[in-house]
Amino acid sequence: MCGIVGYIGNKKAVPVLINGLLSLEYRGYDSAGIAVLNQSNNEYDLKVVKDKGRVKNLEANPELDTLLGTTGIAHTRWATHGMPSKENSHPHLDNSKKFAVVHNGIIENYVELRKILQDNGYTLYSETDTEVIPNLIHMNYNGNILEAVSKTMKLLKGSYAIEVISPLFPDKIIVAKKDSPLVVGIGKNENYVASDIPAVLAHTNNFYFLDEQEIAVVEKDSIKFYDINLKEVKKDIKNIEWDAESSEKNGFEDYMLKEIYEQPQAIRETIGSRLSLDEKVNLELGNIDFTKFDKIYIVACGTAMHAGIAAKYSLEKFCKIPTEVDMASEFRYRNPLVNEHTLCIFISQSGETADTIAALRLAKEAGATTISVVNVIGSSITRLSDYTIYTHAGPEIAVASTKAYTCQVTLLNILAIYIAEALGYNSEELNKFKVDLLELPDKVKDVLETMEQVKDFAEKVYTQKDLYFIGRGLDYAVSMEGSLKLKEISYIHSEAYAAGELKHGPIALIEKGTTVIGVATSPITTEKTLSNLEESITRGANVLVVTNQNIKNGKIDLMIHIPGTNPYLSPVLSVIPLQLFAYYIAKNKKLDVDKPRNLAKSVTVE
Ligand code: F6R
Repeated sequence: MCGIVGYIGNKKAVPVLINGLLSLEYRGYDSAGIAVLNQSNNEYDLKVVKDKGRVKNLEANPELDTLLGTTGIAHTRWATHGMPSKENSHPHLDNSKKFAVVHNGIIENYVELRKILQDNGYTLYSETDTEVIPNLIHMNYNGNILEAVSKTMKLLKGSYAIEVISPLFPDKIIVAKKDSPLVVGIGKNENYVASDIPAVLAHTNNFYFLDEQEIAVVEKDSIKFYDINLKEVKKDIKNIEWDAESSEKNGFEDYMLKEIYEQPQAIRETIGSRLSLDEKVNLELGNIDFTKFDKIYIVACGTAMHAGIAAKYSLEKFCKIPTEVDMASEFRYRNPLVNEHTLCIFISQSGETADTIAALRLAKEAGATTISVVNVIGSSITRLSDYTIYTHAGPEIAVASTKAYTCQVTLLNILAIYIAEALGYNSEELNKFKVDLLELPDKVKDVLETMEQVKDFAEKVYTQKDLYFIGRGLDYAVSMEGSLKLKEISYIHSEAYAAGELKHGPIALIEKGTTVIGVATSPITTEKTLSNLEESITRGANVLVVTNQNIKNGKIDLMIHIPGTNPYLSPVLSVIPLQLFAYYIAKNKKLDVDKPRNLAKSVTVE
C-alpha cells in the first residue's frame, strides 16, 4: 500500500522524509519520490525527485542533494493505475508546476475527471488516477488554496489521503482525507504528516487524526482543521505509546491480524468504480466476444483456487456457462480440453506462482482466451495474460492469505455480472446481486465483531490434534479455505468435507472431544448440514457453527452469527470467523502466524 510522509519546520526536510519512507517500507511499494520547496532569497521553487524502485535508490540519486528546503512531502507508491515508472511515481505536479501532490487511495472517477481536465486544455502525462488532483486544484485555484482543495474534494469519488505543497503558500502543507488514513504529528516549531504513525514516531508521540473529508493546514507552528465546507473543526491530541515493532503493524500484533481487519477497506477498493446500480459493470476487458465460449476453466493454487471454487457457482448461475475449477499443478499435466471456445480465468495474489504461470502458458498455446485476477501490478501473470483485472487488496505480507481471498471472491463475482451483462442476461436478480455486493464492506466490518467469541472458542480447542470443517455447496468451498488456514499456521491436521460425505467414511474419525466446525449459510442446505452436525454431536464432538440462518439447536457449543447476504457472496463473510479461528489457535500455540514453517509467500517453484 502507498505511504505518505510530510515535514514542515526548520530542519532540512529530505532526511526526515527519507527516514519516514524507510520506516514504511514493510508495507511494500514499487516507487518512491519527494517534493521540496527550495528557497533562495524570498523566492520559492518546487523541486521533485522520484523514480520506480527502492527508497535506497532515491537516497542515492545525486539530484536529491539539490533539495535543500525545510518543507517537503514524500511518497512510496504501490501501483494501482499504471505500471511502476518514473512518470507514474508521486509526487505529481499540475501543468503549471505550481502544485505538488502525493496521494494514497484510488480515485474511482478519474477517467471522467481526466476528460474534464483535457476538455479544459490540461495535459496528463502519467497513467495514474492521482495526476487529476494537482490539476483540479490548479483549475479551482483563485488565490485561496483551502477553497481550491475543498472544491476538488467535492469532485473526487473514491478514497484519498493527500498532501499538497506549492511556492504560492510556502509556509503550509495542506492535507485532506477520505477513506484512507492520515495523521498529523505534533513537534516543537515543526510538524509532521503521515499516512501511518510509524513514519514519524521517531519524532513525536502526539498526533491529531483526521476524520472523513477533513482538511488540515499544517504550518511549522500551527495546525488548523476544517470540514469539507471549510468550517473550522477542533480536535483533541492523541498520545501514542507504541514500540517500533507494533507500530509497523499499525498497533496489531501480527500482519495477519492487521490484514484480516483491512478487509472492509480492501473489498471497498476492489469494488471501486467497477460497480454501480444504474450502469453496466465496468471492467478493463476490451471487446471479448463471450458468446463464443462453451466452457470456463478457473485455474489457481491454494487459497486462490478456493476463491475460484467459491466463484464457480455465480459464473454458472448468471452466465450459464459450465465452469470447472482446477489446481494449476494438476491442470498443466492432464491434457485439459482447451480450445478457442474456452475462457480460462487464472487467479493469483502474487502473480508469480510457477504452476499458475505454466497453466496459463498451456491455455494460451491451446487457443483459449485468458483473463487473470491478480493483486500485484505488473507481475508475470499480468504480462502473460490476454487480460488482467486487479484486486485492490494492497500488499499482503502475512504468508497466510486473507484479504486477497475475500477480494478475489468479490472481484470474480463482479466478473460474473460483467460476463452475464455482455451476454445480454439482465435480470432483477442480477440487479439485486449488485446491491448485495455494494453492501459487502459494511457487513465484513460487522463480522469482525465476532472476534471475541471466536477467540474464546479457540482457547478451548487449541490442543486438539485433528479438526474437521463441513458444509455444503458454497459453505463447503469456505470450509476448504478454513481448513487450509488452520493447517498452514497452527500445524493442526485438519480436513474439509462436503457435509453429505461425512457418513460415507470420515465419520469414523469422529470421537468424544473431536472438534467439528460447520458452515451453514445456505437456506437450502442448512437443515441438511445440521443433521450431519447432529451425527457428529451424537459421537461426542465439540461443535462450532458459522451461520446467517435462524438455527435453534441447544447442542451446538458455539454459534457465530454473521449477517445475511446473497448466497453467492456468503463466502466473503463466513470465511472471516474461520480466519480468526486459525489465527487464535496459532496464537494460543505461541506460533509465528506471519511466517509459518515450510511456507513462502510467493511459490515460484514447481
Ligand atoms: C494460503 C496461500 C497459498 C496461496 C497459493 C497461491 O494462505 O497463501 O495457498 O494462495 O500459494 O498463491 P498466489 O495467489 O500468489 O498465486
